[in-house]
Amino acid sequence: MPSRSVPGAAGYEAAPNIALVKYWGMRDERLVLPNNSSLSMTVGGLRTRTWVRFDPGLSADRLWLNGEPAGGGPLQGVAEFLDVVREEAGTRQFAEVRSDNDFPTASGLASSASGFAALAGAASQAAGLRLTPRGLSRLARRGSGSASRSVFGGFVEWEAGHRPDGEDCYARPLLPPDHWPELRDLVTIIADAPEKAVRSARAMQDTIRTSTAYAERLRSVPGRLANLRTALRMRDASRFLELLIAECDDFRHVCETTVPSLDYLTPASRAVLAAVLDLNRTAGSPIAGYTHDAGAHVHVFTFEPNVAEVEGRLRSIPGIASIRTLRPGPAAHPIPATGPAS
Ligand code: DP6
Repeated sequence: MPSRSVPGAAGYEAAPNIALVKYWGMRDERLVLPNNSSLSMTVGGLRTRTWVRFDPGLSADRLWLNGEPAGGGPLQGVAEFLDVVREEAGTRQFAEVRSDNDFPTASGLASSASGFAALAGAASQAAGLRLTPRGLSRLARRGSGSASRSVFGGFVEWEAGHRPDGEDCYARPLLPPDHWPELRDLVTIIADAPEKAVRSARAMQDTIRTSTAYAERLRSVPGRLANLRTALRMRDASRFLELLIAECDDFRHVCETTVPSLDYLTPASRAVLAAVLDLNRTAGSPIAGYTHDAGAHVHVFTFEPNVAEVEGRLRSIPGIASIRTLRPGPAAHPIPATGPAS
């Protein structure tokens, strides 16, 4: 194919998301097609901003993360993703990519979701592809499955789809960010959280191969997803919190039964889970719920007017570096193409 010259440069911004029903396991690793649909909340107050410039003078892709030149795994991930964009745009030009997070990259706050959603937006625009939001979600999925959801704001569902080519596998907005004004996500940042050693995309395939609990999880997720969708729509706080905990426990169970076992939590994370269960027992009905992804930080969901009580309890747990209070956040969107200089 002859290489086409592309329009050039673009910038895009995206927020991380926290999965309320997890994606865990792929039926196609190259196309990133999941075994089950998932549901998430895009979070406000955290953002990744990414700028991409295609340049006919470059002999390889180049990457800066938070102002520092990056190589190794991160550069390889970006270059492989840009290959997908180049293929769709019919160009062979390499690109310069700058990406900044306004939250600590190693903090485990899902930087791959916001990172690949922002990269998909910037790279597709810079390459002259005019994608619909759905098309952008499909493209972001190729970089990191969870990124397909960060294209949209508020509460988002990623449809697993059935087609082998992945055309019916994309996220779509379920409910807008202002749907449930009292809802809060208190993210407990664990002080000694280890850095993520293995990408989730690899770890989840080990679960498929080795966990005896995985088949049962696949059977139970559709029902839990439907119930959670309804609890969200109806703003049924007790049901929402119960389902959140049940789903997280099920996710942790398949991780722990993977061989070798996947244990993402620290003693402080486990103390947060125990504190939430204890708060609910004392209150007599659920006032808080927890969830975590493949990392040690725990997202504790609660509602006004219980935020102060829940937060006070979490603050008494040793080993928590800080607590960030998050709300549902906005969809990914374009920003001016002129980014920071290298
Ligand atoms: C547990 O799609 O973020 O967060 O980019 O390889 O790390 P990598 O994979 P990613 O995996 C997400 C796994 C999860 C659940 C979820 O977000 O649905």
